[in-house]
Amino acid sequence: MSKTAELSIDGKTYTLPVFTGTENEMAIDIGKLRDQSGIVTLDPGYKNTGATTSAITYLDGDNGILRYRGYSIEELAEKSTFIEVAYLLIFGELPGKDQLQRFRNDIKTHTLVHEDVKKILDGFPSTAHPMGVLASLFCSQTAFYPESLDPNRASEGVYMSIIRSMAKMPTFAAWAYKNAIGHPVNYPDNSLEYCSRFMKMMFALPAEPYVVDPVISSAIDKLLILHADHEQNCSTSTVRMVGSSQASIYSSISAGINALWGPLHGGANQEVIVMLEAIAKDGGNIDKWIAKAKDKNDPFRLMGFGHRVYKNFDPRAKIIKKAADDVLGKLGVKDPILDIARNLEDIALRDSYFIERKLYPNVDFYSGIIYRALGIPVEMFTVMFAIGRLPGWIAQWKEMRENKEPIGRPRQIYTGQKERQYVPITKR
Ligand code: ACO
Repeated sequence: MSKTAELSIDGKTYTLPVFTGTENEMAIDIGKLRDQSGIVTLDPGYKNTGATTSAITYLDGDNGILRYRGYSIEELAEKSTFIEVAYLLIFGELPGKDQLQRFRNDIKTHTLVHEDVKKILDGFPSTAHPMGVLASLFCSQTAFYPESLDPNRASEGVYMSIIRSMAKMPTFAAWAYKNAIGHPVNYPDNSLEYCSRFMKMMFALPAEPYVVDPVISSAIDKLLILHADHEQNCSTSTVRMVGSSQASIYSSISAGINALWGPLHGGANQEVIVMLEAIAKDGGNIDKWIAKAKDKNDPFRLMGFGHRVYKNFDPRAKIIKKAADDVLGKLGVKDPILDIARNLEDIALRDSYFIERKLYPNVDFYSGIIYRALGIPVEMFTVMFAIGRLPGWIAQWKEMRENKEPIGRPRQIYTGQKERQYVPITKR
């Protein structure tokens, strides 16, 4: 028998259906509550609101579990590749050999971007943050592929938008970086795989040979897997919200890139390095910075700490911490920032302020350190996150369209002035 919940207000009782997910998560379905009672629910920041049902990612924040389509993040990070994981997220199953080959080849065929994109890029000053450039270049694809403006067209058209998004993302990302340093852009080398192709576009200099370091390319591949999806977070909810108005996939994802940019979301990985460098410059006095983070009169927060959903540990942070040790060891990089990060983590995890609030290192705490060791400049950290998150955004957009979800339109409780008379300016 299906479960129900009862809500009593002003002497009236309403019976509400309860929805149970695959992992026995329960939600009270309040979809019809307003029609029955005129009452809405209030939940700023959607802290306890399920905005959708989804079959893509399972996350249990209390137990530190993250699974894509049922597969644990630990297993995928160890055994899979980013392109395989992208296929899994977008199409629901791990690809067979032929499916993977086709997906990979289709992506390779579309890595070039229209030459006019360079004119758009040229319009940006080199002071432009690469995330802003990336979001703009991504959205500009609506102009080059106007058929994408109709997201309801046949599935082959949607498939092409997915392929183009995956294929062009590394090109846009590397070009945004080249613009920031005032260098000419590199074109994609399709003899290389996804991450190596991106690295060559990022780092190759004119007339100089560039050889991809396999340690770096496989570390990037792993980082992208860890970032590939994270259910209904700020940027993903943005993609679904924008897409719910039947905007194109390119504009929906461009909106997601902008949402990811903020320092409380994907922008935190850049902020972590800024913070660790500031602590180092300040003489490495970690206790002083912990005290600042605890001081309610000081806006400073320990960047890379805390998470809306994980209240035990972030499984991605565990994998990244180990990967940081491996990669720095293999590359022979000694980074004093890493020691500060380890000490900071040690002290914070023993401090009652962080223990009581269940604040643990999140994915961004160590990812910035690896990116730094791999030679990725700090202003590109959030762009790296966006490259990783792209298949998740695509999968969530596709699911939302296939489920024919209605346009997203929350309610509010008005707290402003009651109706009043207009006062002419001479009498104010
Ligand atoms: N440093 C110090 N105190 C913190 C931190 C932090 N990093 N994070 C949360 N707190 C405190 C808050 O001040 C609050 O304390 P109070 O109860 O005494 O008022 C309590 O912990 C709860 O914090 P909220 O802000 O209510 O938690 P919320 O779930 O809204 O925020 C967030 C989560 C935004 C991630 C927050 O922990 C934060 O700002 N962290 C730093 C930024 C960061 O690392 N973001 C990346 C998140 S991962 C990602 O998006 C990929």
